[in-house]
Amino acid sequence: MTEWVVEAQDLQRVYAVRRGLFRAPAQLQAVGNISFKVEKGRTLAVVGESGCGKSTLARMVALIEKPTAGSLRLVGHDAVDPPHERRRELRQAVQLVFQNPYGSLNPRKKISSVLEDPLAINTALGKTERAAKARDMLARVGLRPEYANRYPHMFSGGQRQRIAIARALMLDPRLLVADEPVSALDVSIQAQVLNLLADLQAELGLSYLFISHDLGVVRHIAHEVLVMYLGHAVEQGPKARIFARPLHPYTQALLASTPGLASERIVLKGELPSPLAPPPGCVFNTRCAHATERCRSERPLPRLLDERMVACHHAEKFLPADVSPSASARPQP
Ligand SMILES: Nc1ncnc2c1ncn2[C@@H]1O[C@H](COP(=O)(O)OP(=O)(O)OP(=O)(O)O)[C@@H](O)[C@H]1O
Ligand SMILES: [Mg+2]
Repeated sequence: MTEWVVEAQDLQRVYAVRRGLFRAPAQLQAVGNISFKVEKGRTLAVVGESGCGKSTLARMVALIEKPTAGSLRLVGHDAVDPPHERRRELRQAVQLVFQNPYGSLNPRKKISSVLEDPLAINTALGKTERAAKARDMLARVGLRPEYANRYPHMFSGGQRQRIAIARALMLDPRLLVADEPVSALDVSIQAQVLNLLADLQAELGLSYLFISHDLGVVRHIAHEVLVMYLGHAVEQGPKARIFARPLHPYTQALLASTPGLASERIVLKGELPSPLAPPPGCVFNTRCAHATERCRSERPLPRLLDERMVACHHAEKFLPADVSPSASARPQP
């Protein structure tokens, strides 16, 4: 039986944004109606350009922020309004890793206390056991156990990100929400940290919600991909499908702008619209080379095509003639 670690249905997050003293606050929909599931031991990568709502989605799944609407289940339990005694268990089950390894570690704390404090607060382990577990975790993320006595400034960016990952793993979580975890690192170091995440996943059966704007990175780590644009999911499904044959013009443009992945270059015209005034119809229509009158007036509903979900009125256009759209549609898990 499939073991779902995350089940999100129609997740939404709206912010009220002030526009001055005499005007009513505007409603900004940072995330609109996004649904997805993450299986045990698998990685869902969320991609899209700056401001499309990736971090907002990450914060909701990491239980930092409540969704405005929709349902969220973590490890089989309601995570939006869990009973009090469940709250702590869920908070331990999901842990966050941030983009900036310099800002996310307290400079005054030794690595030993960075790693041991969560155990002191949340478990009954004694001092020696906590220290042993911290040293063991350092070894697991590829660092020397004696580094426990050092301070964060004594490490490189890649090493600090390893420490941040070690800290996230101290309470044996089931899910890591990683928000651009390698974006601040050199390319050579990125690969090492991605390999570490893959090894830890295989070893511990962890699930990842992996946020990135870089499809080159996503290709290495993802099993499933969710492409966001202006708060909406425009395409989502198995990585192999989406990379081999992207069906949404936005996914096509993202892939085309990723070095090494593209055969042709598609330049996106125009600016990203303001999320305070999203265009009517398809959210991507103002920048899409294939947009028609229908796209400007009617919001495309997500539908199954060629083994993935796509929200585009004209997606069939990008299927080769030998792929029958109806035959390839499968029910969602
Ligand atoms: N607390 C908040 N109050 C008001 N608006 C917010 C808040 N947090 C985010 N937003 C808005 O929601 C939208 C989505 O922001 P979010 O940070 O989720 O995007 P992102 O995809 O993570 O971008 P980036 O790639 O730059 O990190 C943006 O328009 C942002 O300005
Ligand atoms: Mg972000």
